[in-house]
Amino acid sequence: MGNEVIDTAVIGRHYDERSPIGDELRDGQIHMWYWYDDDDDAPLTEAVHRVSRKVTDTLGLRAGEHVLDAGCGPGATAVYLAQAYGVRVTGVTVSAFEIDKARARAAAGGVAGLVGVEYGDYAALSYADGAFDAVLALESLQNAADLGQVLRELYRVLRPGGRLTFSDFSLESDSEPARVAKFMDSLKLHRLPTMAEWLGHLRDAGFQIEEYTQCGPRVFGRKSKYLKSAMGRRDEVAEKFGEDAVAQFSQRHLGFFAPRKEQIGYVIVSARKPRT
Ligand SMILES: C[S@@+](CC[C@H](N)C(=O)[O-])C[C@H]1O[C@@H](n2cnc3c(N)ncnc32)[C@H](O)[C@@H]1O
Repeated sequence: MGNEVIDTAVIGRHYDERSPIGDELRDGQIHMWYWYDDDDDAPLTEAVHRVSRKVTDTLGLRAGEHVLDAGCGPGATAVYLAQAYGVRVTGVTVSAFEIDKARARAAAGGVAGLVGVEYGDYAALSYADGAFDAVLALESLQNAADLGQVLRELYRVLRPGGRLTFSDFSLESDSEPARVAKFMDSLKLHRLPTMAEWLGHLRDAGFQIEEYTQCGPRVFGRKSKYLKSAMGRRDEVAEKFGEDAVAQFSQRHLGFFAPRKEQIGYVIVSARKPRT
């Protein structure tokens, strides 16, 4: 992964550069897609929304609850939660682009009173112990420099009995490590845990695991469907962002798509902070 120190400033710049086109292609969600099979003709935006719904369904939210969206991206998931469940959402991100975009999206969606977005490092949050009823980390824990510290911090800000749900990549096969290394480099990952390792990290932080799913074959396994969808909008995106930006965006994706389909999994894990 070179000698670059991957601190929050580097991660922030990474998303400032990567999120604008991602936001355009994926309707405000900088996360993966979910297609049932190669004949599934759902558009990319719907395939991405499926992940938002699938992951957040596991939180069991009730109207009036307060959710922390830890690593909220450009805000589409926070807006969705406020609109669908009537919850309050506080989103934190280390990307200035995403803060602006998420605030604008909340206003446009009529939920500016429910959704607040601010700069925040999920390893050291400014919120009181037990401040949130639920915590969501949708593909954001991958960037944690110290995963144990981040999970302990999310545990701290959850109320007793509250839930954390996250989704993220997992290592399924390191038979071709060079391919995996390119993938990790493209996302600025410190590590790529297996499902068992993810669960172990959660337990170490004090969480009780309630549910976990491995849906890699329908996510990374459908990378060719994503590429086809994205290429279908190439000219439109180039007109809006410029040819250079599209070329850079594509270049950054080369490493991401390097692993074989079977090498990269996608885990959804829901866990609870014990009541006592
Ligand atoms: C792959 S994006 C996912 C964004 C969003 N959850 C979504 O699904 O659209 C990863 C997110 O994690 C955030 N992130 C990375 N490191 C962070 C940190 N130390 N503290 C807070 N957010 C962080 C990034 O700013 C970005 O918003």
